[in-house]
Amino acid sequence: MTPAPRVAALIPAAGSGTRLGLGPKAFVEVAGASLLARSVAALAPHVDEVVVALPAGWTLPPGVPARVVVGGPTRQNSVRLLLEATQAEVVLVHDAARPFLPAEVVRAVLSAAQDLGAATAALPVADTLVRAGPDQAGAGQRWGEPTPREGLWAVQTPQGFRHGVLREAHARAQDDGYVATDDAGLVARLGEPVALVPGDARLFKVTAPGDLALATALAAVWDAG
Ligand code: CTP
Ligand code: MG
Repeated sequence: MTPAPRVAALIPAAGSGTRLGLGPKAFVEVAGASLLARSVAALAPHVDEVVVALPAGWTLPPGVPARVVVGGPTRQNSVRLLLEATQAEVVLVHDAARPFLPAEVVRAVLSAAQDLGAATAALPVADTLVRAGPDQAGAGQRWGEPTPREGLWAVQTPQGFRHGVLREAHARAQDDGYVATDDAGLVARLGEPVALVPGDARLFKVTAPGDLALATALAAVWDAG
């Protein structure tokens, strides 16, 4: 019998990429490599196994060292299915759509997750923040209430968890009909601590068509390094 893996990377990659508009986003290529292949390559050296959730009917590109599960209708469903597919004691959940993942961030999130039970990469917000005012019927968005940015962080992935902590958080969210766009939020709502670990500007999520130009420019530097 082979021993259970100690650390698993779980990669939700089953989204349809609606905002980008080029089909399932994980398979979109930047400078000759898919977002999925880039994310797997960044994580594989740090973990015992990589499991990815793909849209039904899709298969892994050749040479990508991972196991596959079919994803669900939401990101949260896909992560839940990934969790059920591993026995690892510690899991790192990372969006396929964030292909530029520095090794230092992986190590820091993993270490904080092992210490505290849950951790996420995140960045202090740098921009001035404002809530848009009431809709002006065709006149465009208007300035409403400014929102102090002090103490606000933009949440990224990877997010690391002891398996039991994240399993419990997903079960509770499911019972309560609570849906979130990340996993650390599910753990935090149980009252469990979540470490904020400094992320990286290069960890931006490829979301809209404009992000591809940025990703292509960054790939030139990243791939040379
Ligand atoms: N994801 C997933 N299963 C889903 C929806 C999303 O595994 N049912 C994954 C995506 O593949 C992506 C990550 O969750 O790696 C973050 O989601 P997002 O950036 O929203 O990607 P998409 O849902 O594919 O994009 P869009 O919302 O524009 O359709
Ligand atoms: Mg989405």
